[in-house]
Amino acid sequence: MKIINTLETARHIAKQVKACGNRIAFVPTMGNLHEGHLSLVRKARELADFVIVSIYVNSMQFGHNEDFDTYPKTFAADKHHLEQENVDAVFAPTEKIMYPEGQTDHTRIQLDCLDGMHCGLSRPQFFSGVATVVTKLFNIVTPDVAVFGEKDFQQLCVIKKIVHDLMMPVEIVSGPTCRDENGLALSSRNNYLTHTEKKKAAGLYALIQKVASKISAGERDYTRLSQFGIEQMQESGFVPDYFNIVSTKTLKPPSDDESSLVILAACTLNNIRLIDNMQIQID
Ligand code: PAF
Repeated sequence: MKIINTLETARHIAKQVKACGNRIAFVPTMGNLHEGHLSLVRKARELADFVIVSIYVNSMQFGHNEDFDTYPKTFAADKHHLEQENVDAVFAPTEKIMYPEGQTDHTRIQLDCLDGMHCGLSRPQFFSGVATVVTKLFNIVTPDVAVFGEKDFQQLCVIKKIVHDLMMPVEIVSGPTCRDENGLALSSRNNYLTHTEKKKAAGLYALIQKVASKISAGERDYTRLSQFGIEQMQESGFVPDYFNIVSTKTLKPPSDDESSLVILAACTLNNIRLIDNMQIQID
């Protein structure tokens, strides 16, 4: 497995792979890899000849009051996991490589579609930061296909949107959310939770499932159901950010005949942010 630390090497390797007629599958990550990431890597392995994983904690997508400085960095363990998965190359750039002139006057991709909605409301820098860094990574790695987790459903929508709108020649494939034995969605931020908190945090998914079964049973008052979600979060000891039931296509309130819905939920537990979601198909 090659460890790539420079832009030139990354570009050179990508060019060589393509020159041999091979396809590149790419999995962008911020490291601290867990089973969720590794399932995406396995999917990538099935989709192309050459698999590249990036490990880069992108400061642009973090707010000033967020956990950029403490975000877990476990490069040696990550490298070991990726070797076990037969990954061909890891691109692990520094901040200086990704933002040589800093971020002040840097071009940013702005997504008006998600402004003021869901995570876009509480983390105004997040979608723009993700869209910008993923575009840069795509321009460096030039993947044929890139794999993202459904755990970050809004992020997945953002990536699909920029790829579509900016006509990027890359296919976006998603992988399902991996969960622990209690149903808690795997996330690097779970490392901040104690054993007891993890059990409690699993209540978020249980709540989403409860609301999903109400919808499946025929309830259609999504405003009321969202309010129920918020109240239940509070009762369970979470500080709610949002509990929204929206169209999977637009991430906006569903029309009456909408059949493809997603429940998006975010809250904090002892100041640790949790997000989760569930897609529902109705008749
Ligand atoms: O999901 C993540 O790990 C990050 O948001 C990503 C896509 C690697 C961009 O920094």
